[in-house]
Amino acid sequence: MTEIRTGLGWDVHRLAAGRPLILGGVTVPSELGLEGHSDADILSHAITDALLGAAALGDIGMHFPDTDPQWKDADSLQFLAHAAALVRECGFAIMHIDATVVLQQPKLKDFRQPIRESLANALRLEVAQVSVKFKTAEGVGPVGQMQSAEAQALATLGR
Ligand code: C5P
Ligand code: MG
Repeated sequence: MTEIRTGLGWDVHRLAAGRPLILGGVTVPSELGLEGHSDADILSHAITDALLGAAALGDIGMHFPDTDPQWKDADSLQFLAHAAALVRECGFAIMHIDATVVLQQPKLKDFRQPIRESLANALRLEVAQVSVKFKTAEGVGPVGQMQSAEAQALATLGR
């Protein structure tokens, strides 16, 4: 393998009452959830953009426009699986995913393993190839004040 590519992804969604908190396809019990046209799974969205970025295939909005009724309340693991298939069609192997969710609360560390397994399953990777980390925003700014949550991701591809 001679060509190594890295892609960067980032996403933010608002937190709201009466919405589920879905991260990497896993529903986490929480008073507030993520608002959006799809299921608003920031982690899956950030990883989708990281994959597309590494292969220079545009971004999530280009492939799954949020104006398209087809994607209303969509399961974002579909986006992830589709992005993984697209990069593989370009001849890339997905070597590693690393991601961070920035959410003030609830604590997510007990969900790390199920989230990694869910992402690995959607991406057709080994769990060991998928890293997920969590951070608060130390109570500061819109994330710290529970108005929103963010995710960042890196995807490493090789061919
Ligand atoms: O943001 P902070 O540095 O205080 O986070 C410390 C640790 O708490 C993180 O490394 C992570 O293991 C955990 N954490 C978590 N769920 C969050 C935020 C942080 O499990 N929503
Ligand atoms: Mg999003």
